[in-house]
Amino acid sequence: MGKAKKSWEKRLGGGPDKLTVDYVESLSIDRRLYKYDIAGSIAHAQMLCEQKLISKTEFGKIKKGLIEIDAEIASGKFKFDKRLEDIHMVIEAALKSKVGEAGKKLHTGRSRNDQVATDIRLWMRDEIEVLQAKVTRLQQAFVKLAGKYVDDVMPAYTHLQRAQPVSIAAYLLSFAEQLERDYVRLANCRALVDVSPLGSGAVAGSTLDIDRKSTAGTLGFTGISGNSIDAVSDRDFCAEFIFDCAMIATHLSRLAEDWIMYCTNEFGFISIDDAYCTSSSMMPQKRNPDVLELIRGKTGRVYGALMGMLTILKAQPTGYNRDLQEDKVHIFAASDTVSQSLDMACAVVGHTKFDTKQIGAGLDDGFLDATALAEYLVGRGVAFREAHGIVGTLVAECEKWGKRLGEVGLDELKQHSPVIESDVYSRLGARNVVGKYATEGAAGTKQAKEQVAFWQKQLAQR
Ligand code: ARG
Repeated sequence: MGKAKKSWEKRLGGGPDKLTVDYVESLSIDRRLYKYDIAGSIAHAQMLCEQKLISKTEFGKIKKGLIEIDAEIASGKFKFDKRLEDIHMVIEAALKSKVGEAGKKLHTGRSRNDQVATDIRLWMRDEIEVLQAKVTRLQQAFVKLAGKYVDDVMPAYTHLQRAQPVSIAAYLLSFAEQLERDYVRLANCRALVDVSPLGSGAVAGSTLDIDRKSTAGTLGFTGISGNSIDAVSDRDFCAEFIFDCAMIATHLSRLAEDWIMYCTNEFGFISIDDAYCTSSSMMPQKRNPDVLELIRGKTGRVYGALMGMLTILKAQPTGYNRDLQEDKVHIFAASDTVSQSLDMACAVVGHTKFDTKQIGAGLDDGFLDATALAEYLVGRGVAFREAHGIVGTLVAECEKWGKRLGEVGLDELKQHSPVIESDVYSRLGARNVVGKYATEGAAGTKQAKEQVAFWQKQLAQR
């Protein structure tokens, strides 16, 4: 394109330095907003027509031109010229060269400041839906896997030390809970996003009779922003959105960390499908969980985006500042990364097998039933602190003898506490304990069954 003149070049002499052109352009990042920009422009033009600021014929030309531009961009034929800075200017310039005079009227009562704020919100509204669907899909994968292992038992850890036995299903469903909060956080964010800034202009609105409720309605926004100065500079929702992505990344990273450990020879709890492993260029025996490591590693990108976004917002003077253009770098990075990681996690979860034999073989190591024994004593009238001490002493002795609690004879047990009877053996051993959990939401077999049923129903409604 020979001439890529912007309207303000009448004000500024010469034209920008080449360095400036490259430095200020955002087209390379924001061209993906084109559909939203076009939708926003059609809504704006329709309102201008309703308000008699442009004629019906002009609106017709603008709309037709914008639809053609949309198709050209979608087909890949469109020529982008970065000298026009951003997607907003590119589309407006293309419209002007298509429909002439009418195109020059599109920007009436509008600034790129309210335009870009609108575009981002439209994009984010869709993106949130996509992310929510992916979160749900991953939850479903966990529920499906949990359904297979309700009756199987594994150790739960605190401080990464063997703690208490749990149903494998309960372990898996702990991720469904985390993801549910992610889903709700995104829904809350969507409510903040659902406000139209269009019509706020550059910073102060317009002296023209712009009907903001009309454009908001056309674009499907629930409300309009209350203050034009705030509306053009508000990117709180961007920080919030990235935070929501960062929490998803956190949860995926914790899952990855668990499973990287669980698939080691040392644990041998799970096997990750070959399709999600890689090997080593040197060590022929290797089967590495690189996909999980990258899920963990890419979390850094998302946290970086959050820090980047917050830093952009800090110390900006009131009103729109060009700093804000950097917002898109971070929202796209966060969203793209998390979106990909959610897909990856879903595939891995869908193909992972728990080695219940291997887990079962080690289950009676580490005194997972110690707490249950203390609670047995409580049931027989011993104060919990007392019971805790009795079992602690027993465990120390067992360690010396190389015995499990369930292998200690009744006489020996009675020497530690006379209230112990032979029924104690039905309370010892990891499997017995998991069948005895009584509290709501506990990690026992019974509760895991209920939770699987709950999630199946809950997620089917989405
Ligand atoms: N490309 C800018 C952004 O993404 C919008 C342009 C606003 N520019 C301006 N000079 N007011 O935020």
